[in-house]
Amino acid sequence: MKERIRQAVAAFAADASHEHLYGVLECLKEAVEAEEILHMAVDPGTALPLEEERPDGTLARLVYTDAAEAREAGREVAEVRAGEYFREAAAASDLRFSGVVIDPEGTRMFLPQAMIRLLLLEERPQENEVYFEIGDITELECDCIVNAANSALLRGGGVCGAIFRAAGPELDEACAAIGGCPTGEARITKGFRLKAPYIIHTVGPIYSGRASDRENLAACYRNSLDLAMEHGIHSIAFPAISTGIYGYPLAEACETALVAVSLWLSEHTDYGMAVIFSCFDQRTYDAYEAAALKLEGKA
Ligand code: AR6
Repeated sequence: MKERIRQAVAAFAADASHEHLYGVLECLKEAVEAEEILHMAVDPGTALPLEEERPDGTLARLVYTDAAEAREAGREVAEVRAGEYFREAAAASDLRFSGVVIDPEGTRMFLPQAMIRLLLLEERPQENEVYFEIGDITELECDCIVNAANSALLRGGGVCGAIFRAAGPELDEACAAIGGCPTGEARITKGFRLKAPYIIHTVGPIYSGRASDRENLAACYRNSLDLAMEHGIHSIAFPAISTGIYGYPLAEACETALVAVSLWLSEHTDYGMAVIFSCFDQRTYDAYEAAALKLEGKA
């Protein structure tokens, strides 16, 4: 098992593709299920997890699959079960803590805290799935929720305001650090106090009636899904982007969203992505239903 983790990490180091990332997450998930023993570096004085400063100023804990490797590097280690170790790291609330470095001396891999939380989530879908749900997106338990953001990535109204309130002030800080996002593009942050480990922020078009509106709206969905896949995310909830404050006609927006998502899923049939269209009200749910029927040629 530990050899498999090392091999998966080496494969990811050689080629940081999503398949390789998925390979690492799968091995670690098995290690958690098998209650495998890992060796965490500890501070010799306090016996607390030893932390390393990363180039961005955040702190990462160090964990070894092989105790001998740690001892050779002069580290003091303590044995810990993989599940216990990752659950504790997933829950760590220190703002500077950013994740865990696996096998720091050899082919090391940094696993961000949000990724650790993903690893602990239940089964991922084997196949692509699409759902429509009425409710509040901030309460969904999925890998990632999408924010209908503004290009400054500032706390706004609508679904954006609700997400900032639920995620907490750490989200304001994280968005300020990113600085902004052009229309049609997407950026990712942790989910902070949300149940979802990640938030993808995408900026929909302000409706103008031009052809570029549709292109930009489709790009929001496509770029969000690409970014989600890069982060090993397998379930993502979208609000009806641009259909509130940005004034996009609902029927047209739902149709564009469905076409863009269906196209992406058809191009990534092996990935296993569950897409949830989160509808704040019945009117939005009905608009998706009508758009789906129209696209299937039944209306
Ligand atoms: N869960 C799911 N959907 C929601 C929620 C919720 N909690 N709250 C509202 N919606 P809008 P936009 C729906 O206006 O048009 C912000 O200020 C809402 O009913 O939130 O893309 C941003 O910062 C509608 O169907 O986003 C930007 O400045 C959909 O979410 C601007 O508004 C989108 O409505 C973005 O405007």
